[in-house]
Amino acid sequence: MKKRFYSLSLACLCLGSLFAAEKAEVVVDINQPGSQISRHIYGHFAEHLGRCIYGGIWVGEDSPIPNTKGYRNDIIKAIQHIQIPNLRWPGGCFADEYHWRDGIGPRESRPKMINTHWGGVVEDNSFGTHEFLDYCELVGTEPYVCGNVGSGTVEEMSKWVEYITFDGESPMSNERKANGREKPWKVSFWGVGNENWGCGGNMTPEYYSDLYRQYSTYCRNYGDNKLLKIAGGANSSDYNWTEVLMKNVGAGRMWGLSLHHYTVPKGWGAGGKGSATEFSQEEYFVTMEKALFMDELISKHTAIMDKYDPRKRVAFCVDEWGAWYDVEPGTNPGFLYQQNTLRDALLCAATMNIFHKHSDRVRMANIAQMVNVLQAIILTKEDQLVLTPTYHIYDMYKVHHDATNLPIQMHAPSFSYETRNIPALSVSASKDKNGVVHVSIVNLDPKNDIETRCTLPGAKLKVASGQILTGADVARYNTFENPNEIQLAEFKDAKMKDDQLSLRIPAKSVVTIALK
Ligand code: AHR
Repeated sequence: MKKRFYSLSLACLCLGSLFAAEKAEVVVDINQPGSQISRHIYGHFAEHLGRCIYGGIWVGEDSPIPNTKGYRNDIIKAIQHIQIPNLRWPGGCFADEYHWRDGIGPRESRPKMINTHWGGVVEDNSFGTHEFLDYCELVGTEPYVCGNVGSGTVEEMSKWVEYITFDGESPMSNERKANGREKPWKVSFWGVGNENWGCGGNMTPEYYSDLYRQYSTYCRNYGDNKLLKIAGGANSSDYNWTEVLMKNVGAGRMWGLSLHHYTVPKGWGAGGKGSATEFSQEEYFVTMEKALFMDELISKHTAIMDKYDPRKRVAFCVDEWGAWYDVEPGTNPGFLYQQNTLRDALLCAATMNIFHKHSDRVRMANIAQMVNVLQAIILTKEDQLVLTPTYHIYDMYKVHHDATNLPIQMHAPSFSYETRNIPALSVSASKDKNGVVHVSIVNLDPKNDIETRCTLPGAKLKVASGQILTGADVARYNTFENPNEIQLAEFKDAKMKDDQLSLRIPAKSVVTIALK
């Protein structure tokens, strides 16, 4: 029976190719569910960089900005709403020059340091281990701590683990208790260095592999706290890094291996990366083309991982990704503060669809960064807060957390710029624990709507609800004066007849339909 539906669906695909460019045929294979979409791919990242921590998450207890124990209330509310599953901290490049002991004890006596990577500003260490881990408990997210390999010692990292997670009598746990925290925190995700090919020490993969083995040996599991150790991974398409790490460290010594990849429209050269809000049609196209490269990157890195780890024990963790533009005019270049348009929301949704597709291996991802830095979901100005278009994708897509990925086949029109083409649609579907199927469709084409017929062979489902995120132009964004220019709206134009869902996906939009 299953097989018959499958061939029917393939027939639909072939028919699709006869249609005009504005029509698409999609088949969602509900009969052969794939892997679970780990909610941890919806993770976030908070570095000591610009106004992410200070002025973002943390304003201090004495601030006139409404706060709970120093944490901004409006941000707490916003991130609880989207149920962020994990938060990576303290960096980034900052992690490999961070010495955790500077950030414990009475705040007024904590030493100050220079944040050499990010603007050369003075870091007063008022947000440290307690502040971060208490925050995670407060908002209900899992901490992902990144330890210092680049300029720290094995002993320092080992003692940090003991300080945080040991529940007995020891010098570290006694110090923690003296600093006001009786019980240990639960911390699973533990990064052993960051970008050790670059800001984390400019190492070769061979040298880092040895250091990883050494440092991770002394990151102990205390009591029932089991560390999920994550090795610092490759820079974009540095496949050799993955090869060496998999070969020299091996699947038994790491829970995860990371990847960092940013979408930079004009590249890293001196000419600038491109503006976040003022971009040509070509730049829009290139941004999407570069973002979709994530699919190829994951396929190639995971093919190498498969060679050494065919049972897919090691998680691939894309623990830094997102769009990186020029900073907003007049802001500190070291603070990486950029606006966020509908373009970024489309990029985000298409990227999440890629992660869903690779859910058998991609089990964690962290967009960079949560507040006021790079592709942020939240921007703040003094006591004001704006939810960016990207935030709304995290809201819309939370229905996919821990759901089962459903394989997709698609025949979609292309979106072209001069002679270059990318698929105009990006589609993903999943089934949650209650049997509800969610289909998410991104139309990257900024001008043309796409009539989409989506077949779910054999399904007996009805449209329960729909949501859309779109706007008048891909360059529109939310400001402190007009915070709701881009916001979620109800989508009512989906129809289900037999096992076919028909809907017209507006240009430059993301739509999610719930079927039950
Ligand atoms: O997210 C900003 C920076 O980008 C991080 O600190 C670093 O890891 C990466 O190069």
